[in-house]
Amino acid sequence: MSFKVKDHYFKKAKKENFLARSVYKLEEIDQKYKILNKKNNVVDFGYHPGSWVQYTAEKVGPEGLVVGIDIKPVSNKLSPLKNVRLYEKSIFDVSVLEDLEMESLFDVVLSDMAPNTTGIKSVDQDRSLNLIEEVFHILPKFLRPGGNFAIKVFDSNQAQVFLKENKNIFEEFHLLKPKSTRSISKEFFAIGKRYKA
Ligand SMILES: C[S@@+](CC[C@H](N)C(=O)[O-])C[C@H]1O[C@@H](n2cnc3c(N)ncnc32)[C@H](O)[C@@H]1O
Repeated sequence: MSFKVKDHYFKKAKKENFLARSVYKLEEIDQKYKILNKKNNVVDFGYHPGSWVQYTAEKVGPEGLVVGIDIKPVSNKLSPLKNVRLYEKSIFDVSVLEDLEMESLFDVVLSDMAPNTTGIKSVDQDRSLNLIEEVFHILPKFLRPGGNFAIKVFDSNQAQVFLKENKNIFEEFHLLKPKSTRSISKEFFAIGKRYKA
């Protein structure tokens, strides 16, 4: 089953000129919870290779902006997109808007970040939670009141507890395992709407 799913979304992404199959996760999140709108300024943490950037750039349109950061070198495949700015940076080196040459808060914060995995479950869960905690930590400096949010989470007891403790910073909070996620995968997405700040 998981291979069929992989095959289907992998081929679909290729055919539709998306840089990764992950685009269908964001598409499902956005279709269900309407987190992206025209003219939005959006930051995408862990954007590489860039399918979320491709989808988001189209959604926000020419008057919107997508800012992507990733520890990987900047991808020139996205350079034709005029409403996109990319940085080779770690989330741990970003703490204020000026680090991303921004003057105002973002309308939407996205994170599909995934750590380098070791295969040791507890280590991988800790690394993933570390990234999630950092995103929540810097959120007040990046997301405007009323803004929307989506973040990838590797499931663990600690991650569940952390999300429960922090979900109240949004007026609406949802958990979703998109259909395109491989069935064996432990990942899901947390979606926050209308940030209370
Ligand atoms: C699953 S990929 C993202 C796929 C992307 N959403 C897309 O649609 O193409 C996860 C990314 O998180 C990045 N990442 C991991 N740790 C990071 C960190 N500390 N800061 C920024 N990006 C990080 C990885 O380099 C990797 O490119």
